[in-house]
Amino acid sequence: MRKTIIAGNWKMYKTIPEAIELANGLKRELFELDGQTIEIVLCPPFTALSEVSEVTQNSNINSGAQDVYWQEEGAFTGEVSCKMLKDAGAHFVIIGHSERRQFFGETNDSVNKKLKAVLKNGLIPIVCVGESLQERELGKTFDVLNNQVHNSLKDINKEEMVRTVIAYEPVWAIGTGKTATPKQAQEVQEYIRGLLVKMFDKETAVSVRIQYGGSVKPDNITELMNQPDIDGALVGGASLTVESFSEIVKRAQKVKK
Ligand code: 13P
Repeated sequence: MRKTIIAGNWKMYKTIPEAIELANGLKRELFELDGQTIEIVLCPPFTALSEVSEVTQNSNINSGAQDVYWQEEGAFTGEVSCKMLKDAGAHFVIIGHSERRQFFGETNDSVNKKLKAVLKNGLIPIVCVGESLQERELGKTFDVLNNQVHNSLKDINKEEMVRTVIAYEPVWAIGTGKTATPKQAQEVQEYIRGLLVKMFDKETAVSVRIQYGGSVKPDNITELMNQPDIDGALVGGASLTVESFSEIVKRAQKVKK
């Protein structure tokens, strides 16, 4: 059984007071949900990570970062290490988000280095993969995913793979209001699981959680979660208010597989 995981990626939104307010609101709204059946993760900007971790401490909600650098410490201006994230109370780290790949030069190789550092430090990685609109229209979706999955997850062992969460986020569905249809998302996520079977083994592949991300809203979460290979969601815009994110979490928890 794979435990459902719903994560909110707040991107570059929320000041510290706003982040505290949102985290408190979600804690109040979601406290009754059983943490055994669903994992809830909030990924604020670095500046609010400590505060969000403090608010969510001893609750059914975890905090996570949106990026990390693989070195332990050193002269790397602007970067943040795994140890620093743990110090700020984070349990999860998003790696290789398409916005980082698109605007900040993230590559499969840097994603792989970050992944190894995160696993070594006992944090839980959420590794993002996904094709662009042009790649989809050219019929290259599976090739792109094959390349991203193989190279981002290179040289990790089965136990590490099981601890890793994958987020399939088609770039054309991010922040556009265009969700992949549940069928489109399922097709790709089934393909990704198939790759994991070949790279590791069946037992490992069926244990790995694969989230869908891209315009997830309260209105579409149930249908997405009903797909056999969709184990949760990575939510952007709709994670920024208590109403929409708590509704997504509650509806996701109701879907019994
Ligand atoms: P939206 O939910 O705003 O489309 O963003 C998805 C995303 O990029 C989450 O990481």
